[in-house]
Amino acid sequence: MRVGDPCWLRAPKGSAEPFAPGTIVNVQQGGDRLTVKKQDGTEVAFDSKNADVFAANPTGTSAPDHCALLHLNEPSVLENSRARFLKDNIYTYTGKILIAINPFKEPAQIYETAMMKNYVDKDVGAKGCEPHVYAMGEAAYKYVKRHLSSSAIIMSGESGAGKTETTKHLMRYLAWRSETVSSKAEGRLDTLADAILKTNPLLEAFGNAKTVRNNNSSRFGKMMRLHFNKNGSVSGAFIKTYLLEKSRTVAITDPERNYHVFYQLLKGAPDTYKGTVAKLDPAKLHMINQSKCTTLTTIDDNVAFKSTVEAMKVLNIPDEDVQLLFTLLSSLLLLGNIEFGQDDNDKADIVNPDGLTKAEEMLKCGRLTEFLTSKKMSRGGKGDKRQSVYTIEYNKEQAETCRDAVIKAIYTNLFDWVVTKVNAFILGGDKTESLPYVGLLDIFGFENFKYNSFEQLCINFANEK
Ligand SMILES: Nc1ncnc2c1ncn2[C@@H]1O[C@H](COP(=O)(O)OP(=O)(O)OP(=O)(O)O)[C@@H](O)[C@H]1O
Ligand SMILES: [Mg+2]
Repeated sequence: MRVGDPCWLRAPKGSAEPFAPGTIVNVQQGGDRLTVKKQDGTEVAFDSKNADVFAANPTGTSAPDHCALLHLNEPSVLENSRARFLKDNIYTYTGKILIAINPFKEPAQIYETAMMKNYVDKDVGAKGCEPHVYAMGEAAYKYVKRHLSSSAIIMSGESGAGKTETTKHLMRYLAWRSETVSSKAEGRLDTLADAILKTNPLLEAFGNAKTVRNNNSSRFGKMMRLHFNKNGSVSGAFIKTYLLEKSRTVAITDPERNYHVFYQLLKGAPDTYKGTVAKLDPAKLHMINQSKCTTLTTIDDNVAFKSTVEAMKVLNIPDEDVQLLFTLLSSLLLLGNIEFGQDDNDKADIVNPDGLTKAEEMLKCGRLTEFLTSKKMSRGGKGDKRQSVYTIEYNKEQAETCRDAVIKAIYTNLFDWVVTKVNAFILGGDKTESLPYVGLLDIFGFENFKYNSFEQLCINFANEK
Protein backbone atom coordinates (compact mmCIF):
# COMPACT_ATOMS: atom_id res chain seq x y z
CA MET A 1 0.00 0.00 0.00
CA ARG A 2 1.19 3.50 -0.83
CA VAL A 3 0.54 6.96 0.54
CA GLY A 4 -2.80 8.23 -0.78
CA ASP A 5 -4.27 4.74 -1.29
CA PRO A 6 -7.78 4.15 0.07
CA CYS A 7 -8.11 1.39 2.66
CA TRP A 8 -10.50 -0.30 5.10
CA LEU A 9 -10.00 -0.69 8.82
CA ARG A 10 -11.78 -3.37 10.82
CA ALA A 11 -14.12 -1.50 13.18
CA PRO A 12 -14.16 -2.31 16.91
CA LYS A 13 -16.65 -4.95 18.04
CA GLY A 14 -20.18 -3.63 18.42
CA SER A 15 -19.79 -0.93 15.72
CA ALA A 16 -22.71 -0.44 13.33
CA GLU A 17 -20.44 -1.11 10.32
CA PRO A 18 -17.85 -3.91 10.35
CA PHE A 19 -15.24 -1.84 8.46
CA ALA A 20 -14.47 1.88 8.31
CA PRO A 21 -12.92 3.62 5.29
CA GLY A 22 -9.62 5.50 5.54
CA THR A 23 -6.63 6.73 3.53
CA ILE A 24 -2.97 5.77 3.93
CA VAL A 25 -1.05 8.92 4.91
CA ASN A 26 2.31 7.46 5.89
CA VAL A 27 4.25 4.26 5.11
CA GLN A 28 7.33 3.39 7.15
CA GLN A 29 9.70 0.48 7.71
CA GLY A 30 9.19 -0.87 4.19
CA GLY A 31 5.43 -1.01 4.63
CA ASP A 32 5.44 -2.65 8.08
CA ARG A 33 4.21 0.53 9.74
CA LEU A 34 1.23 2.38 8.31
CA THR A 35 -0.54 5.56 9.33
CA VAL A 36 -4.17 5.80 8.30
CA LYS A 37 -6.36 8.90 8.30
CA LYS A 38 -9.93 8.02 9.19
CA GLN A 39 -12.98 9.83 7.79
CA ASP A 40 -13.36 11.85 10.99
CA GLY A 41 -9.88 13.27 10.39
CA THR A 42 -8.08 11.36 13.15
CA GLU A 43 -4.86 9.53 12.32
CA VAL A 44 -3.92 6.08 13.61
CA ALA A 45 -0.62 4.25 13.23
CA PHE A 46 -0.59 0.47 12.74
CA ASP A 47 1.82 -2.37 12.65
CA SER A 48 0.56 -3.65 9.27
CA LYS A 49 1.32 -7.32 10.03
CA ASN A 50 -0.95 -7.39 13.07
CA ALA A 51 -3.57 -4.80 12.19
CA ASP A 52 -6.76 -5.34 10.21
CA VAL A 53 -6.02 -2.88 7.41
CA PHE A 54 -7.22 -3.89 3.94
CA ALA A 55 -6.54 -2.39 0.54
CA ALA A 56 -9.68 -0.71 -0.82
CA ASN A 57 -10.77 -0.43 -4.44
CA PRO A 58 -10.86 3.03 -6.01
CA THR A 59 -13.97 4.95 -4.93
CA GLY A 60 -16.98 4.29 -7.14
CA THR A 61 -15.68 0.95 -8.45
CA SER A 62 -18.20 -1.83 -8.65
CA ALA A 63 -18.21 -5.10 -10.59
CA PRO A 64 -20.83 -7.80 -11.32
CA ASP A 65 -18.25 -10.40 -10.27
CA HIS A 66 -16.25 -9.90 -7.07
CA CYS A 67 -13.35 -11.72 -8.74
CA ALA A 68 -13.02 -8.83 -11.21
CA LEU A 69 -12.22 -6.37 -8.40
CA LEU A 70 -8.71 -5.00 -8.17
CA HIS A 71 -8.53 -5.93 -4.49
CA LEU A 72 -10.46 -8.98 -3.29
CA ASN A 73 -10.84 -9.04 0.47
CA GLU A 74 -13.70 -9.12 2.96
CA PRO A 75 -14.50 -5.38 3.09
CA SER A 76 -14.17 -5.05 -0.70
CA VAL A 77 -16.66 -7.88 -1.26
CA LEU A 78 -19.07 -6.30 1.22
CA GLU A 79 -18.68 -2.85 -0.31
CA ASN A 80 -19.18 -4.14 -3.86
CA SER A 81 -22.29 -6.06 -2.79
CA ARG A 82 -23.65 -2.97 -1.07
CA ALA A 83 -22.96 -0.68 -4.03
CA ARG A 84 -24.80 -3.08 -6.34
CA PHE A 85 -27.65 -3.65 -3.89
CA LEU A 86 -28.25 0.12 -3.66
CA LYS A 87 -28.83 0.06 -7.42
CA ASP A 88 -31.32 -2.81 -7.03
CA ASN A 89 -28.82 -5.41 -8.25
CA ILE A 90 -29.38 -8.03 -5.58
CA TYR A 91 -27.19 -10.65 -7.29
CA THR A 92 -23.39 -10.63 -7.63
CA TYR A 93 -21.08 -13.43 -8.76
CA THR A 94 -18.01 -14.67 -6.99
CA GLY A 95 -16.70 -16.80 -9.84
CA LYS A 96 -19.22 -19.61 -10.26
CA ILE A 97 -20.98 -18.83 -6.98
CA LEU A 98 -23.93 -16.44 -6.88
CA ILE A 99 -24.32 -14.18 -3.86
CA ALA A 100 -27.87 -12.93 -3.27
CA ILE A 101 -28.84 -10.16 -0.88
CA ASN A 102 -32.39 -10.39 0.38
CA PRO A 103 -34.25 -7.25 -0.78
CA PHE A 104 -37.36 -8.01 1.33
CA LYS A 105 -39.33 -6.63 -1.63
CA GLU A 106 -39.67 -7.82 -5.22
CA PRO A 107 -37.13 -5.81 -7.25
CA ALA A 108 -39.14 -4.67 -10.25
CA GLN A 109 -39.29 -7.03 -13.20
CA ILE A 110 -36.32 -9.23 -12.44
CA TYR A 111 -38.37 -12.42 -12.29
CA GLU A 112 -40.47 -11.94 -15.42
CA THR A 113 -40.50 -14.33 -18.39
CA ALA A 114 -38.73 -11.74 -20.52
CA MET A 115 -35.84 -11.96 -18.07
CA MET A 116 -35.79 -15.76 -18.26
CA LYS A 117 -35.38 -15.53 -22.04
CA ASN A 118 -32.13 -13.58 -21.58
CA TYR A 119 -30.41 -16.57 -19.99
CA VAL A 120 -31.34 -19.36 -22.39
CA ASP A 121 -28.17 -21.10 -23.66
CA LYS A 122 -25.95 -18.51 -21.94
CA ASP A 123 -23.00 -19.29 -19.67
CA VAL A 124 -22.67 -17.86 -16.18
CA GLY A 125 -21.13 -14.39 -16.57
CA ALA A 126 -21.92 -14.16 -20.32
CA LYS A 127 -21.65 -10.69 -21.84
CA GLY A 128 -24.84 -8.67 -21.51
CA CYS A 129 -26.29 -10.94 -18.81
CA GLU A 130 -26.40 -9.45 -15.33
CA PRO A 131 -25.79 -11.91 -12.46
CA HIS A 132 -29.03 -13.74 -11.82
CA VAL A 133 -30.36 -16.89 -10.21
CA TYR A 134 -31.64 -17.84 -13.69
CA ALA A 135 -28.04 -18.04 -14.91
CA MET A 136 -27.38 -20.66 -12.23
CA GLY A 137 -30.52 -22.55 -13.25
CA GLU A 138 -29.45 -22.45 -16.88
CA ALA A 139 -25.94 -23.74 -16.02
CA ALA A 140 -27.39 -26.70 -14.09
CA TYR A 141 -29.91 -27.40 -16.83
CA LYS A 142 -27.30 -27.27 -19.61
CA TYR A 143 -25.04 -29.63 -17.66
CA VAL A 144 -27.80 -32.22 -17.35
CA LYS A 145 -28.77 -31.92 -21.00
CA ARG A 146 -25.22 -32.04 -22.32
CA HIS A 147 -23.79 -34.77 -20.08
CA LEU A 148 -27.00 -36.69 -19.29
CA SER A 149 -25.72 -36.63 -15.75
CA SER A 150 -27.11 -34.94 -12.63
CA SER A 151 -26.16 -31.56 -11.19
CA ALA A 152 -27.18 -29.67 -8.07
CA ILE A 153 -27.51 -26.15 -6.76
CA ILE A 154 -27.04 -25.59 -3.03
CA MET A 155 -28.82 -22.72 -1.31
CA SER A 156 -26.82 -21.71 1.73
CA GLY A 157 -27.12 -18.83 4.16
CA GLU A 158 -28.37 -17.92 7.58
CA SER A 159 -32.02 -18.14 8.46
CA GLY A 160 -34.07 -15.53 6.57
CA ALA A 161 -31.41 -15.04 3.89
CA GLY A 162 -33.81 -16.06 1.12
CA LYS A 163 -32.91 -19.70 0.37
CA THR A 164 -36.46 -20.98 0.03
CA GLU A 165 -37.56 -18.05 -2.14
CA THR A 166 -34.48 -18.56 -4.32
CA THR A 167 -35.35 -22.26 -4.64
CA LYS A 168 -38.83 -21.32 -5.84
CA HIS A 169 -37.40 -18.92 -8.45
CA LEU A 170 -35.07 -21.69 -9.67
CA MET A 171 -37.92 -24.16 -9.83
CA ARG A 172 -39.99 -21.74 -11.89
CA TYR A 173 -37.08 -21.10 -14.24
CA LEU A 174 -36.36 -24.80 -14.76
CA ALA A 175 -40.03 -25.56 -15.37
CA TRP A 176 -40.24 -22.69 -17.84
CA ARG A 177 -36.94 -23.72 -19.46
CA SER A 178 -38.25 -27.20 -19.95
CA GLU A 179 -41.30 -25.78 -21.72
CA THR A 180 -39.03 -24.17 -24.28
CA VAL A 181 -38.03 -27.63 -25.53
CA SER A 182 -41.18 -29.65 -24.91
CA SER A 183 -44.47 -29.63 -26.69
CA LYS A 184 -47.08 -28.30 -24.27
CA ALA A 185 -49.42 -30.88 -25.76
CA GLU A 186 -47.68 -33.47 -23.56
CA GLY A 187 -49.49 -31.85 -20.67
CA ARG A 188 -47.15 -33.31 -18.07
CA LEU A 189 -45.08 -30.23 -17.53
CA ASP A 190 -47.92 -27.81 -17.01
CA THR A 191 -49.44 -30.12 -14.45
CA LEU A 192 -46.11 -30.75 -12.76
CA ALA A 193 -44.92 -27.15 -12.39
CA ASP A 194 -48.39 -26.21 -11.28
CA ALA A 195 -48.57 -29.11 -8.84
CA ILE A 196 -45.19 -28.34 -7.27
CA LEU A 197 -46.06 -24.69 -6.80
CA LYS A 198 -49.58 -25.40 -5.62
CA THR A 199 -48.52 -28.13 -3.20
CA ASN A 200 -45.82 -25.93 -1.72
CA PRO A 201 -48.23 -24.24 0.73
CA LEU A 202 -49.05 -27.69 2.11
CA LEU A 203 -45.40 -28.52 2.74
CA GLU A 204 -44.82 -25.08 4.22
CA ALA A 205 -47.89 -25.41 6.47
CA PHE A 206 -46.42 -28.55 8.04
CA GLY A 207 -42.73 -27.71 7.84
CA ASN A 208 -42.48 -23.93 8.31
CA ALA A 209 -42.93 -21.74 11.35
CA LYS A 210 -42.37 -18.20 12.52
CA THR A 211 -38.98 -17.78 14.18
CA VAL A 212 -37.24 -14.68 15.48
CA ARG A 213 -35.49 -14.21 12.15
CA ASN A 214 -38.08 -15.30 9.64
CA ASN A 215 -41.89 -15.36 9.68
CA ASN A 216 -41.84 -18.32 7.29
CA SER A 217 -38.78 -20.22 8.36
CA SER A 218 -38.25 -23.73 6.91
CA ARG A 219 -37.82 -26.10 9.83
CA PHE A 220 -36.73 -28.98 7.60
CA GLY A 221 -34.16 -29.52 4.89
CA LYS A 222 -35.41 -30.15 1.38
CA MET A 223 -33.79 -31.56 -1.73
CA MET A 224 -35.99 -31.25 -4.77
CA ARG A 225 -34.94 -33.29 -7.77
CA LEU A 226 -36.28 -32.23 -11.17
CA HIS A 227 -35.73 -35.15 -13.54
CA PHE A 228 -35.17 -34.41 -17.22
CA ASN A 229 -35.48 -36.71 -20.21
CA LYS A 230 -33.04 -36.72 -23.17
CA ASN A 231 -34.83 -33.83 -24.84
CA GLY A 232 -34.36 -31.65 -21.80
CA SER A 233 -38.00 -31.76 -20.81
CA VAL A 234 -39.09 -32.37 -17.20
CA SER A 235 -40.36 -35.91 -16.65
CA GLY A 236 -41.11 -35.70 -12.97
CA ALA A 237 -39.87 -34.47 -9.64
CA PHE A 238 -39.08 -35.87 -6.23
CA ILE A 239 -38.74 -34.19 -2.86
CA LYS A 240 -36.52 -35.61 -0.14
CA THR A 241 -36.79 -34.00 3.25
CA TYR A 242 -34.28 -33.97 6.10
CA LEU A 243 -34.37 -33.45 9.81
CA LEU A 244 -37.75 -31.92 10.57
CA GLU A 245 -37.41 -29.89 13.77
CA LYS A 246 -39.96 -31.96 15.64
CA SER A 247 -39.11 -30.51 19.05
CA ARG A 248 -40.94 -27.33 17.93
CA THR A 249 -44.28 -29.15 18.24
CA VAL A 250 -43.92 -29.34 22.02
CA ALA A 251 -41.58 -26.47 22.89
CA ILE A 252 -41.61 -22.94 21.50
CA THR A 253 -40.08 -19.76 22.82
CA ASP A 254 -41.62 -16.32 22.73
CA PRO A 255 -42.02 -14.68 20.15
CA GLU A 256 -41.84 -17.75 17.90
CA ARG A 257 -44.73 -19.95 16.81
CA ASN A 258 -45.45 -23.62 16.44
CA TYR A 259 -45.90 -24.99 12.89
CA HIS A 260 -48.19 -22.83 10.73
CA VAL A 261 -50.68 -25.68 10.30
CA PHE A 262 -51.81 -25.49 13.94
CA TYR A 263 -52.80 -21.81 13.59
CA GLN A 264 -54.47 -22.55 10.26
CA LEU A 265 -56.48 -25.25 12.00
CA LEU A 266 -57.49 -22.97 14.87
CA LYS A 267 -58.31 -19.92 12.73
CA GLY A 268 -59.47 -21.30 9.40
CA ALA A 269 -60.79 -24.84 9.81
CA PRO A 270 -64.49 -25.60 10.32
CA ASP A 271 -65.46 -26.93 13.76
CA THR A 272 -66.08 -30.41 12.31
CA TYR A 273 -62.30 -30.71 11.76
CA LYS A 274 -61.47 -29.73 15.33
CA GLY A 275 -63.55 -31.99 17.56
CA THR A 276 -63.32 -30.87 21.19
CA VAL A 277 -60.64 -28.30 20.35
CA ALA A 278 -63.39 -26.17 18.76
CA LYS A 279 -64.77 -25.53 22.26
CA LEU A 280 -61.41 -24.64 23.79
CA ASP A 281 -59.89 -21.20 24.03
CA PRO A 282 -56.64 -21.33 21.94
CA ALA A 283 -54.99 -19.37 24.76
CA LYS A 284 -55.45 -22.47 26.93
CA LEU A 285 -53.58 -24.80 24.55
CA HIS A 286 -50.11 -25.51 25.88
CA MET A 287 -48.59 -26.11 22.43
CA ILE A 288 -49.73 -22.62 21.42
CA ASN A 289 -49.64 -20.52 24.58
CA GLN A 290 -45.94 -21.01 25.38
CA SER A 291 -45.47 -17.98 23.11
CA LYS A 292 -47.49 -14.78 23.09
CA CYS A 293 -47.17 -14.61 19.32
CA THR A 294 -50.17 -16.21 17.61
CA THR A 295 -50.89 -13.94 14.64
CA LEU A 296 -48.55 -12.63 11.97
CA THR A 297 -48.75 -9.47 9.92
CA THR A 298 -47.27 -11.17 6.86
CA ILE A 299 -49.32 -14.38 6.87
CA ASP A 300 -53.12 -14.66 7.15
CA ASP A 301 -53.75 -18.09 8.71
CA ASN A 302 -57.31 -18.11 7.43
CA VAL A 303 -56.21 -17.63 3.82
CA ALA A 304 -53.29 -20.02 4.34
CA PHE A 305 -55.71 -22.71 5.55
CA LYS A 306 -57.59 -22.43 2.26
CA SER A 307 -54.33 -22.77 0.27
CA THR A 308 -53.39 -25.84 2.33
CA VAL A 309 -56.74 -27.49 1.61
CA GLU A 310 -56.51 -26.44 -2.05
CA ALA A 311 -53.07 -28.10 -2.26
CA MET A 312 -54.57 -31.31 -0.89
CA LYS A 313 -57.26 -31.13 -3.58
CA VAL A 314 -54.53 -30.81 -6.24
CA LEU A 315 -53.04 -34.01 -4.79
CA ASN A 316 -56.43 -35.73 -5.04
CA ILE A 317 -56.53 -36.36 -1.29
CA PRO A 318 -60.15 -37.29 -0.47
CA ASP A 319 -62.16 -34.97 1.78
CA GLU A 320 -62.38 -37.66 4.50
CA ASP A 321 -58.57 -37.81 4.67
CA VAL A 322 -58.31 -34.03 4.82
CA GLN A 323 -60.72 -34.03 7.74
CA LEU A 324 -58.86 -36.91 9.39
CA LEU A 325 -55.56 -35.08 9.05
CA PHE A 326 -56.90 -32.01 10.86
CA THR A 327 -58.62 -34.18 13.46
CA LEU A 328 -55.28 -35.82 14.21
CA LEU A 329 -53.67 -32.40 14.54
CA SER A 330 -56.45 -31.39 16.93
CA SER A 331 -55.82 -34.50 19.00
CA LEU A 332 -52.17 -33.48 19.29
CA LEU A 333 -53.26 -30.14 20.73
CA LEU A 334 -55.33 -32.04 23.30
CA LEU A 335 -52.43 -34.37 24.11
CA GLY A 336 -50.23 -31.32 24.59
CA ASN A 337 -52.58 -30.22 27.36
CA ILE A 338 -52.25 -33.44 29.37
CA GLU A 339 -50.73 -32.67 32.75
CA PHE A 340 -49.12 -35.09 35.15
CA GLY A 341 -48.91 -35.22 38.89
CA GLN A 342 -46.89 -37.57 41.08
CA ASP A 343 -47.88 -39.66 44.11
CA ASP A 344 -45.79 -40.33 47.23
CA ASN A 345 -44.01 -43.17 45.44
CA ASP A 346 -42.98 -40.87 42.58
CA LYS A 347 -45.47 -42.59 40.29
CA ALA A 348 -46.94 -40.30 37.63
CA ASP A 349 -50.68 -39.89 37.34
CA ILE A 350 -52.80 -37.85 34.92
CA VAL A 351 -54.27 -34.67 36.40
CA ASN A 352 -56.85 -34.08 33.63
CA PRO A 353 -57.98 -37.54 32.44
CA ASP A 354 -61.02 -36.06 30.61
CA GLY A 355 -58.71 -34.35 28.13
CA LEU A 356 -56.92 -37.61 27.50
CA THR A 357 -60.17 -39.48 26.90
CA LYS A 358 -61.12 -36.91 24.26
CA ALA A 359 -57.70 -37.20 22.62
CA GLU A 360 -58.05 -41.00 22.61
CA GLU A 361 -61.46 -40.72 20.93
CA MET A 362 -60.03 -38.49 18.21
CA LEU A 363 -56.98 -40.71 17.74
CA LYS A 364 -59.30 -43.72 17.72
CA CYS A 365 -57.09 -45.53 20.18
CA GLY A 366 -57.74 -46.46 23.80
CA ARG A 367 -55.86 -46.81 27.04
CA LEU A 368 -53.13 -44.27 26.37
CA THR A 369 -52.81 -43.75 30.14
CA GLU A 370 -50.83 -46.94 30.53
CA PHE A 371 -48.41 -46.01 27.73
CA LEU A 372 -47.93 -42.46 28.97
CA THR A 373 -47.21 -43.41 32.58
CA SER A 374 -45.26 -46.68 32.33
CA LYS A 375 -43.24 -48.91 30.06
CA LYS A 376 -42.93 -52.65 29.71
CA MET A 377 -39.51 -54.28 29.82
CA SER A 378 -38.65 -57.90 29.22
CA ARG A 379 -35.74 -59.89 30.61
CA GLY A 380 -34.32 -62.94 28.84
CA GLY A 381 -34.41 -63.70 25.10
CA LYS A 382 -37.38 -64.76 23.02
CA GLY A 383 -38.25 -68.43 23.69
CA ASP A 384 -36.25 -68.33 26.90
CA LYS A 385 -38.29 -70.11 29.60
CA ARG A 386 -37.04 -67.67 32.16
CA GLN A 387 -38.17 -64.65 30.11
CA SER A 388 -40.15 -62.27 32.26
CA VAL A 389 -42.05 -59.09 31.39
CA TYR A 390 -42.32 -56.38 34.01
CA THR A 391 -43.65 -52.83 34.16
CA ILE A 392 -41.64 -49.75 35.08
CA GLU A 393 -43.74 -46.85 36.32
CA TYR A 394 -42.73 -43.36 35.16
CA ASN A 395 -42.33 -40.38 37.44
CA LYS A 396 -43.90 -37.02 36.42
CA GLU A 397 -40.93 -35.89 34.36
CA GLN A 398 -40.63 -39.19 32.48
CA ALA A 399 -44.35 -39.18 31.71
CA GLU A 400 -44.08 -35.64 30.32
CA THR A 401 -41.18 -36.73 28.12
CA CYS A 402 -43.25 -39.69 26.96
CA ARG A 403 -46.26 -37.44 26.13
CA ASP A 404 -43.99 -35.12 24.12
CA ALA A 405 -42.41 -38.07 22.31
CA VAL A 406 -45.87 -39.31 21.25
CA ILE A 407 -46.79 -35.85 19.90
CA LYS A 408 -43.50 -35.54 18.05
CA ALA A 409 -43.78 -39.03 16.58
CA ILE A 410 -47.34 -38.53 15.33
CA TYR A 411 -46.51 -35.12 13.87
CA THR A 412 -43.41 -36.44 12.09
CA ASN A 413 -45.49 -39.25 10.61
CA LEU A 414 -48.11 -36.79 9.40
CA PHE A 415 -45.38 -34.67 7.80
CA ASP A 416 -43.88 -37.74 6.11
CA TRP A 417 -47.33 -38.75 4.89
CA VAL A 418 -47.79 -35.32 3.30
CA VAL A 419 -44.38 -35.59 1.59
CA THR A 420 -45.25 -39.09 0.31
CA LYS A 421 -48.52 -37.79 -1.14
CA VAL A 422 -46.73 -34.91 -2.87
CA ASN A 423 -44.11 -37.26 -4.30
CA ALA A 424 -46.69 -39.75 -5.53
CA PHE A 425 -48.23 -36.92 -7.52
CA ILE A 426 -45.14 -35.23 -8.94
CA LEU A 427 -42.87 -38.19 -9.64
CA GLY A 428 -44.37 -39.22 -12.98
CA GLY A 429 -43.66 -42.65 -14.49
CA ASP A 430 -41.68 -45.53 -12.95
CA LYS A 431 -38.57 -44.70 -14.94
CA THR A 432 -38.41 -41.08 -13.84
CA GLU A 433 -36.13 -41.75 -10.89
CA SER A 434 -33.42 -43.21 -13.12
CA LEU A 435 -33.28 -40.03 -15.24
CA PRO A 436 -30.65 -37.36 -14.55
CA TYR A 437 -31.82 -34.48 -12.45
CA VAL A 438 -31.12 -30.95 -11.30
CA GLY A 439 -31.14 -31.07 -7.50
CA LEU A 440 -32.17 -27.97 -5.57
CA LEU A 441 -30.97 -28.25 -2.00
CA ASP A 442 -32.64 -25.87 0.42
CA ILE A 443 -31.27 -26.55 3.87
CA PHE A 444 -32.43 -24.57 6.86
CA GLY A 445 -30.21 -21.75 7.94
CA PHE A 446 -27.59 -21.40 10.64
CA GLU A 447 -29.05 -20.19 13.93
CA ASN A 448 -27.63 -19.66 17.38
CA PHE A 449 -30.16 -19.65 20.22
CA LYS A 450 -29.69 -19.21 23.94
CA TYR A 451 -30.35 -22.93 24.22
CA ASN A 452 -29.43 -24.99 21.14
CA SER A 453 -31.04 -28.42 20.79
CA PHE A 454 -29.30 -31.45 19.28
CA GLU A 455 -31.28 -30.77 16.08
CA GLN A 456 -29.83 -27.25 15.93
CA LEU A 457 -26.35 -28.67 16.37
CA CYS A 458 -26.94 -30.93 13.35
CA ILE A 459 -28.37 -28.01 11.33
CA ASN A 460 -25.44 -25.74 12.14
CA PHE A 461 -22.95 -28.53 11.49
CA ALA A 462 -24.50 -29.18 8.06
CA ASN A 463 -24.32 -25.45 7.29
CA GLU A 464 -20.70 -25.12 8.33
CA LYS A 465 -19.72 -28.16 6.28
N1 LIG B 1 -35.52 -12.80 -3.92
C1 LIG B 1 -36.36 -12.26 -3.04
N2 LIG B 1 -37.12 -11.21 -3.39
C2 LIG B 1 -37.95 -10.64 -2.50
N3 LIG B 1 -38.10 -11.03 -1.21
C3 LIG B 1 -37.37 -12.07 -0.80
C4 LIG B 1 -36.46 -12.75 -1.68
N4 LIG B 1 -35.87 -13.73 -0.99
C5 LIG B 1 -36.40 -13.68 0.25
N5 LIG B 1 -37.30 -12.69 0.37
C6 LIG B 1 -38.06 -12.32 1.60
O1 LIG B 1 -37.38 -12.86 2.73
C7 LIG B 1 -38.22 -13.76 3.47
C8 LIG B 1 -37.38 -14.90 4.00
O2 LIG B 1 -36.90 -15.66 2.91
P1 LIG B 1 -36.80 -17.26 2.98
O3 LIG B 1 -37.97 -17.83 3.69
O4 LIG B 1 -36.52 -17.72 1.60
O5 LIG B 1 -35.51 -17.43 3.90
P2 LIG B 1 -34.69 -18.76 4.20
O6 LIG B 1 -33.27 -18.48 3.86
O7 LIG B 1 -35.32 -19.91 3.50
O8 LIG B 1 -34.82 -18.86 5.77
P3 LIG B 1 -34.93 -20.17 6.72
O9 LIG B 1 -33.57 -20.76 6.81
O10 LIG B 1 -35.39 -19.59 8.01
O11 LIG B 1 -35.93 -21.08 6.09
C9 LIG B 1 -39.31 -14.16 2.49
O12 LIG B 1 -40.51 -14.48 3.16
C10 LIG B 1 -39.46 -12.92 1.63
O13 LIG B 1 -40.28 -11.96 2.28
MG1 LIG C 1 -36.35 -21.55 4.14
